[in-house]
Amino acid sequence: MVGVNDKINVGMVGYKFMGKAHSHAYKDVGMFFEPAADVVMKAICGRDEQGVKAAADKFGWESYETDWRKMVARDDIDFVDINAPSDAHKEITLAAIAAGKHVFCEKPLALNLADGREMLEAAEKAGVKHAVCFNYRFLPAVQLAKQIIDEGRLGEIHHYRATYLQDWLVDPNTPMAWRLKKEVAGSGAHGDINAHSIDLARFLIGEFDRVVGHNRTFVKERPIATDAAGGLSAGAGSSSQKDQVTVDDATGFLADFKNGAMGMFVASRFAAGRKNHNTFEIHGSKGSLRWDLEKLNELEVYFREDEPNLAGFRRILATESTHKYAGNWWPTGHIIGYEHAFVHIVYEFVQHIKTGSPFAPTFYDGVKCQEVLEAVDLSIERGSWVGIDEV
Ligand SMILES: NC(=O)c1ccc[n+]([C@@H]2O[C@H](COP(=O)([O-])OP(=O)(O)OC[C@H]3O[C@@H](n4cnc5c(N)ncnc54)[C@H](O)[C@@H]3O)[C@@H](O)[C@H]2O)c1
Repeated sequence: MVGVNDKINVGMVGYKFMGKAHSHAYKDVGMFFEPAADVVMKAICGRDEQGVKAAADKFGWESYETDWRKMVARDDIDFVDINAPSDAHKEITLAAIAAGKHVFCEKPLALNLADGREMLEAAEKAGVKHAVCFNYRFLPAVQLAKQIIDEGRLGEIHHYRATYLQDWLVDPNTPMAWRLKKEVAGSGAHGDINAHSIDLARFLIGEFDRVVGHNRTFVKERPIATDAAGGLSAGAGSSSQKDQVTVDDATGFLADFKNGAMGMFVASRFAAGRKNHNTFEIHGSKGSLRWDLEKLNELEVYFREDEPNLAGFRRILATESTHKYAGNWWPTGHIIGYEHAFVHIVYEFVQHIKTGSPFAPTFYDGVKCQEVLEAVDLSIERGSWVGIDEV
């Protein structure tokens, strides 16, 4: 219940990709950080008893449930962590809030903007703490980018360019997955990976003003997966029967930001050779910076004030103890990985619940992201620019 003491009991829904990443975060947070409460892995929930029991044993959860309603209602759960597909986010969130629990929800916050707004309103009304898992904010190199921009070292921002490119769908025989169904996922590459780019842009340079986009569904039907869940990787089992893909395979858009910067965004699951190419490059009046998830410890920075014959992009390895979160891990130069950002967001959310320390991204940020997602979709429908305040 709201108002925890020296322990905080987590109940988590979903035990596959994100379920594993979050479980790892709960296990590690007390070893590398000093959270204001001991994080207890109280209960994990999934619909298949054998599967969830195996996950509970492997990941180290104290107990398991096969119905999230039962888990959410348990008196010994303080916050609910939702790692199910987007269509389940709203119902579980509203039930958790009604039971007085804090909520940590995976992105995108909801199937659509209206649902997201309902979730934000319910959380604010109940006074529970809420978070959306935009994990990439919590990497040391991304935190450094934010610091450099906030200190004015890039000057006035002119350009923001983001790519989020994967290639797991380029094979037309890759089977159906829940991510390819609008009623389950909300949208395709757009809501799944553009959502991350939109959140990083808001975090780093501020709010969007207007957008115009285009999208494609290159392969419109796919073999039905024999493994019911489907997955992120090609080569899963499939049958000869086909099912319709009802989401975008790729969405790109242009943006104007409120601060006058120009933005370009592209998200694709058809970028052959690109596995998880999440990047941003920012150009300002005094310099530039760029980052690539596949080299996540590094930030490349260029300052125009450098002597011309020495000027160039410098590569900063964000592993010094002065880089946010880095000092909690290993000595300088001993790099961290994908999973660490989840440890950092869990740490910050526990501090927020326990001590009232400032925290973002909350459901507010989830809604702001969803506004941009929907404005892009509306611009595609209309074939023209759409202001964020129109959605
Ligand atoms: N932050 C990130 O970088 C990131 C990365 C991948 C996925 N996600 C998000 O995380 C969420 C889950 O994605 P995933 O990749 O882990 O999916 P997944 O398919 O690997 O796992 C989904 C899990 O949810 C469970 N589930 C589905 N419906 C359920 C229900 N009604 N009750 C209980 N359990 C249910 C499934 O059994 C499974 O364990 C999605 O919202 C996705 O967008 C975020």
